[in-house]
Amino acid sequence: MDAVRTIVAEQPPSLDRLLGLAASDMAAVDALIRRHMDSPVPVIPALADHLIAGSAKRLRPLLTVAAARLAGARGDACLKLAAAVEFIHTATLLHDDVVDSSELRRGRVAAHLIWGAPSSVLVGDFLFARAFELMVGAGSMPALEILARASRVIAEGEVLQLTRAHDMDLSQELYLEIIGAKTAELFAAAAEAGAVSADAPADRRRALRTYGQALGLAFQLTDDALDYSGASEELGKNPGDDFREGKATLPLLLAMMRTGTAEREFWVRTIDRRDHTDADFQRARELMVQTGALESTLDLARRHARQAKAALADFAASPWRPALEDLADFAVMRKS
Ligand code: IPE
Ligand code: MG
Ligand code: MG
Repeated sequence: MDAVRTIVAEQPPSLDRLLGLAASDMAAVDALIRRHMDSPVPVIPALADHLIAGSAKRLRPLLTVAAARLAGARGDACLKLAAAVEFIHTATLLHDDVVDSSELRRGRVAAHLIWGAPSSVLVGDFLFARAFELMVGAGSMPALEILARASRVIAEGEVLQLTRAHDMDLSQELYLEIIGAKTAELFAAAAEAGAVSADAPADRRRALRTYGQALGLAFQLTDDALDYSGASEELGKNPGDDFREGKATLPLLLAMMRTGTAEREFWVRTIDRRDHTDADFQRARELMVQTGALESTLDLARRHARQAKAALADFAASPWRPALEDLADFAVMRKS
């Protein structure tokens, strides 16, 4: 194991407790997902299944179910919302892999490399539309509002990130705004929609939204570190995509700042002028370790994970609470 990988060498905590509690709900969510993936146009279920079957964790719908149950939900109102959340997520991934020219997703060849970018984008639209049908079926106007807003904010975050690629002067504030929009917003909405489906009072709803938001930030900060430190066999996607796309994520921003004038030429050539090789990526990884940029990124991720857990403090003791705490730990210690 090389120096970069040892930074994330600890064993990630297990999600078994959460997965066990949610098993029957998630089986029902899975059945809803299968049913709503269907279409008489054959490429749609084929392409959707390629991506959806590769998802092992289903973290976001799990979050909707767990938030609902922690907030005291007894019925099945959260299940359609959870399936809708997974569809929104899957739609954004189909679009994102086209935008990022990513070749690997969930351990499989990216859908656009098999069916082409046009089909991938259009099936993404299909899944978005299915999400809205499911949300309407759930019959909760507030939940529909939360998830509709999240869909819009994600798109804004993705466009903002796209327009700021290769920008070596991106501020850390704007970076945090981007990841807040493209990633944390769906985590926040997933948790809040769960709370709404449980008819939770406003303070509980706010607490679960805060939990989701902090969890999402922790998740994406870790993701951005893993893009430099992870291995494709574990990640199910290729590390180095962010570097190749010149994406100014926190590890890159910190490394550029901390190497100062000494490495200025290297960063200008690889990020600004887009002239880079595999060896440059290895060099970037080394600089990230030497400058502590990866460690600082993971420190910030851990800080958000602690904030996520703190947001659950007022919930009565319930097995769901420690299970959601596990999820916050998992988000920052995962390798996949
Ligand atoms: C994905 O962001 C966010 C959305 C799909 C909205 P990234 O582009 O950073 O994530 P990966 O690395 O492709 O999963
Ligand atoms: Mg991407
Ligand atoms: Mg992207």
